[in-house]
Amino acid sequence: MKKILAACFALAMSVPGAALANEITIYSGRGEALIGPVIAQFEADTGIKANVRYAGTAELATLLQEEGDQSPADVFWAQDGGALGAIAPLFAELPAEVNEGVSAPFRNVNNKWAPTSGRSRVLVFSKERVQEDDLPASINDLTEEKYKVRVAWAPTNGSFQAFVTAFRVVHGEEAAKAWLEGMIANDAKVYRNNGTQIEGIANGEVDFGLVNNYYLGRYVSSDADFPVDQTHFEAGDIGNLLNVAGVGIVASSENQENARKFIDYLLSATAQQYITIEGNEYPVVPGIIQSPTLEPFDKLEEISPKVEIDQIDDLEGTLALLRDVGLL
Ligand SMILES: [Fe+2]
Repeated sequence: MKKILAACFALAMSVPGAALANEITIYSGRGEALIGPVIAQFEADTGIKANVRYAGTAELATLLQEEGDQSPADVFWAQDGGALGAIAPLFAELPAEVNEGVSAPFRNVNNKWAPTSGRSRVLVFSKERVQEDDLPASINDLTEEKYKVRVAWAPTNGSFQAFVTAFRVVHGEEAAKAWLEGMIANDAKVYRNNGTQIEGIANGEVDFGLVNNYYLGRYVSSDADFPVDQTHFEAGDIGNLLNVAGVGIVASSENQENARKFIDYLLSATAQQYITIEGNEYPVVPGIIQSPTLEPFDKLEEISPKVEIDQIDDLEGTLALLRDVGLL
């Protein structure tokens, strides 16, 4: 019965003009736990009913490409700028004012999508087993003998893969491959995701890990003495990649007006303040009080490598490379 209902729903949503005027269909690569309340508040404030399909960002990007102009989606909210870049041809162009209101490092210069929050890659490490002078200056240093069997990574994780794509864009295919092989030769330990790397450090399995900035805050908020800390590499290092979650309007949507209201809501002070405090991510508009777990904004700008987020869209090439070196 449930299946039949779901099928009817999908059919109704895919008939052009069948959607009620005051609805919006959102494909969300962002998890419901964090953003469910944002959607609920958007509905309450605007009176627009949101139909949300939650799934992985890469999975939804593939689905959008398959559906083409038949997609029931009005907007795609992704947690990786690379996925937004890959889908950009399917997005309607946004008025320039949307991105002009956003802080420079997060902005999409092509106006195909708008960032909704920022996240940076960090090095997490054991407070107990790592001294200040053991910290690597560059992510490239992690292939050195002194880091053998001490480093965690998560090759199947989307944010890690976006980082590898950025590595390929900035330093080239050969350098990216050499780094991956160097890490494998150094017995980097494979974990399922970001959180398990942090737990692995706390449990004494490894001393370092490569994750997004907002994970550690979840552990520290429930245990102030949690034995893991985080830092960035030297200024400009690709290991500090700044990425975004962001949203675009599907060009074939007949509901552009509500889609635009949704984007405006996500960039409002209310939504931005919630995302940084609850999610430990960087707000993308000025004037928001950042989560205290975050680097000051000026520092973030200084340490981030200069990569156009739109350019890190070749996930296929990264997956091929990861398969080539035996990580997938
Ligand atoms: Fe994440």
